[in-house]
Amino acid sequence: MIEYTDTRGLTDRPRAFSEAILEGLAPGGGLFVPVGLPAVPLADIVTLAARPYHERAALVYEAFGLDMSAARTAAISAAAYGDNFDDPAIAPVRKVGDHFVLELWHGPTLAFKDMALQCMPLFFSEALEMAHTAGRTDLDYLILVATSGDTGVAALNGYADRPHTRIVVYYPDAGVSAVQERQMVTQPGDNLSVFRLAGDFDDCQNAVKAVFDDADFAAELAAEHGLALSSANSINWGRLLPQVVYYMSGYADMVAAGHLAAGDPLDVCVPTGNFGNILAAYYAKRCGTPIRRLLCASNTNNVLTDFIATGTYDISSRALIKTPSPSMDILVSSNLERLLYDLTAAASDERRDDPAGGVQAAGPEGERVHDWMTQLRTSGRFAVDDDVHRRLQSLLVGAWVDNDTCLRTIGAAYAQHRYLMDPHTAIGWKVAADLRTDAPVLVASTAHWSKFAADTLRALTATPAGAPLAGKTDGDGLALLDRVVEHAPEASVPPQLRAVRDRPVRFDERVDRTREAVEQSLRDWLSAAH
Ligand SMILES: Cc1ncc(COP(=O)(O)O)c(C=O)c1O
Repeated sequence: MIEYTDTRGLTDRPRAFSEAILEGLAPGGGLFVPVGLPAVPLADIVTLAARPYHERAALVYEAFGLDMSAARTAAISAAAYGDNFDDPAIAPVRKVGDHFVLELWHGPTLAFKDMALQCMPLFFSEALEMAHTAGRTDLDYLILVATSGDTGVAALNGYADRPHTRIVVYYPDAGVSAVQERQMVTQPGDNLSVFRLAGDFDDCQNAVKAVFDDADFAAELAAEHGLALSSANSINWGRLLPQVVYYMSGYADMVAAGHLAAGDPLDVCVPTGNFGNILAAYYAKRCGTPIRRLLCASNTNNVLTDFIATGTYDISSRALIKTPSPSMDILVSSNLERLLYDLTAAASDERRDDPAGGVQAAGPEGERVHDWMTQLRTSGRFAVDDDVHRRLQSLLVGAWVDNDTCLRTIGAAYAQHRYLMDPHTAIGWKVAADLRTDAPVLVASTAHWSKFAADTLRALTATPAGAPLAGKTDGDGLALLDRVVEHAPEASVPPQLRAVRDRPVRFDERVDRTREAVEQSLRDWLSAAH
């Protein structure tokens, strides 16, 4: 069984999977990371292609040795990856021209988040039942989510009406697309609520993290409402594990289709914001998938491109810039912390093994990461050691795409291939084209274009980013869907969005970006509704 420790060295004991998923964030603000990873033989990876996706997932989960029975894990996988997806392959690899695209948006909310969030709530319920039965807690759970758009929609869908669980989502006002907002504020379910937060995604993430850190509030929730807090953001390990599956599955599909021989190297290109998706590709590589380089694709908020190039993460004089890929408008990439932990651990292992080593006296990895995260919070920057930077550069290549190039990429790909991409995918596509060498590149396609209809329409009509669209545009962005299809007849509005069009708006409340305001919104909602 793989156990989990935390990135800042502050947990008193390792956790089992079921405990890590319930806790979400580790005590002291760090993130749970696996202690060791399974080595999955290449033969097992390539034979995944012969199985349906839910069996692929169950096999990977089994390799991770979860503290749940194989029968339960298989049942959870079967329930998570079925006809709730609009493609039986669940995460198909498409060859488009000479690009390979891993389509991760066939789930109910049309973004890659469904790949994890159709599954994680089922793991969560199982873990909660185990904890209740074992008498480890008698509390129910309140899931708090900060979203740059897609996570909120997918988490609401996944957790709606789950027993013993409530979920509240905070999204930045004017920071998500019209369709994403509409998906959230119309979500049915008796156990959920949604708030617009005055700020950007980093403000949302900070406010929610501050609530997690407030021990007095946790005590109040337990005493007055019988609730403990947890997270459905990718800071929760339960989000990352299901994402590891599709990189292994994608490799297997490419071998089965004859695009690769088993064992050939594959580069993976991931449009990146909070660093969760690309980190899952890293774990897939470490488990044995022959992934060579991870291409980290950014938008104008290119802090990660600079970090990979220089080893210094510096947001001290950066302001967040709004782009056509709003779900990547992030400056504090939370999951980078997990990679830094791993690279620091590898660097200190090497020094321990090398009698001539030890030039830089790095402390235990948790302490180093703790230091860097403290520096980031207090001064907006940190610089990693040279050997960690060297390891980072041997693994990751970063590049970024400006707003107009992003839109031109969508227009050109549609004109050339009749393939319509969303702006996040377009960033991955362009970086893959720019950085490709001798190995094929698999581009993670993270959302369906319809979630970003206004910018897709700009792309198809050669309208610059940010410029007003000619013709009729309605307030909620849904009318634009039909206009996109007029310009791109091969594309169609997915049925998942037709239902959203007809649902009434349920939530329209704005909160301030402080911890106090977020806590008060929770108190008010819990008292009124329950
Ligand atoms: C469509 C889309 N693309 C890319 C990303 C970035 O993924 P990550 O935050 O895992 O790096 C997100 C995340 O919000 C997203 O919704």
